[in-house]
Amino acid sequence: MAVHQFAERAPRAGFGNTSPVMTSAIGDKTLRQRIDHSAVRSVSPYERSVIGFRSDPRMQGVVEKNYFDEDLAAAVSRYGQSDEFAKVVSVLAMRLRPGALLLDFGAGRGLTSLALAQSGAFVVSVESDPSEVVGIGALGKLKRPPGPPLAPVSGDVLQLPFRDHVFDIAFCRSVLHHLEDLDSGLKEIWRVLRPGGILLVLNEHILGPFSDERIFLQSHPAVPYGVNEHAYPVWRYWKVVRQAGFRKVHFFGYEGDALDFRDFLATSCRHNPFRFRLMALPCIGKLFRGALYGLHVLTRRHLRYICVPEESCVAISIVAHKPAN
Ligand SMILES: C[S@@+](CC[C@H](N)C(=O)[O-])C[C@H]1O[C@@H](n2cnc3c(N)ncnc32)[C@H](O)[C@@H]1O
Repeated sequence: MAVHQFAERAPRAGFGNTSPVMTSAIGDKTLRQRIDHSAVRSVSPYERSVIGFRSDPRMQGVVEKNYFDEDLAAAVSRYGQSDEFAKVVSVLAMRLRPGALLLDFGAGRGLTSLALAQSGAFVVSVESDPSEVVGIGALGKLKRPPGPPLAPVSGDVLQLPFRDHVFDIAFCRSVLHHLEDLDSGLKEIWRVLRPGGILLVLNEHILGPFSDERIFLQSHPAVPYGVNEHAYPVWRYWKVVRQAGFRKVHFFGYEGDALDFRDFLATSCRHNPFRFRLMALPCIGKLFRGALYGLHVLTRRHLRYICVPEESCVAISIVAHKPAN
């Protein structure tokens, strides 16, 4: 069912039907933790920031880029057609089959959960913010005709209310860098993922090794609202993901300033007549060119996630696997 068919309506207690398969898989504890709309809540910094961006004409680019549109159905529809979501579908590929259980942790108002639920998997959205604007409360406001296959759960990523080895896919978008304890969060995800399962993490802020996090924080538009933003060097993500037990860890997403080899060559020879003459030699010149090309490839492939500008909120994505046994 197309997401745009969902309309918002007044909050209500509880949600639509939950698949019996999913209920038995995650246990009764989850059902007890469903959202209580009558609970008194305070507005979170994240909610304040999104409301602030929406009302600020200078921030319309941020609203659009981050799918903060007031109309959730429109945002989901736009996200579902984005290159980012096409990449998600291509990475998860055959795993997004009907009957697969997907955990969307730090799901916010369900942007990615709703898009993913269209592709067949049963999505469990976990979110600690009860907000009806940016949190799990927003999913409770949706009109729920028969689909999509989705269960919103109010909970903490650091203490997930699920049994071990339940989910086929663990997914999040812009969440790891908000966690208070990155290591515990990854271990908890590992626990609930079944052996052979896949972890897909989108849009995590990265810093260069000698970068100043303060410069990063100054440039982040959500920081003035008190949102707990962080950025880590790429090796830190690699380390926590590996330490949690994941293997075949790959990064993607940030292309950086892709160097053109000819520019690279020209730059490396411009002020050096000796190097220039060396390159003109019949055999040695070829070898030398080869060595420079190797350096160029190394720089592009392996340094692009390391040499990043801290003032432009660079983000990367991560794919990792839980070994089958
Ligand atoms: C930047 S938002 C991203 C929301 C959503 N994934 C999206 O892309 O629209 C980060 C979300 O992670 C949630 N979050 C952070 N720490 C959490 C935790 N320990 N447990 C559950 N949710 C958490 C925040 O409440 C927030 O909704």
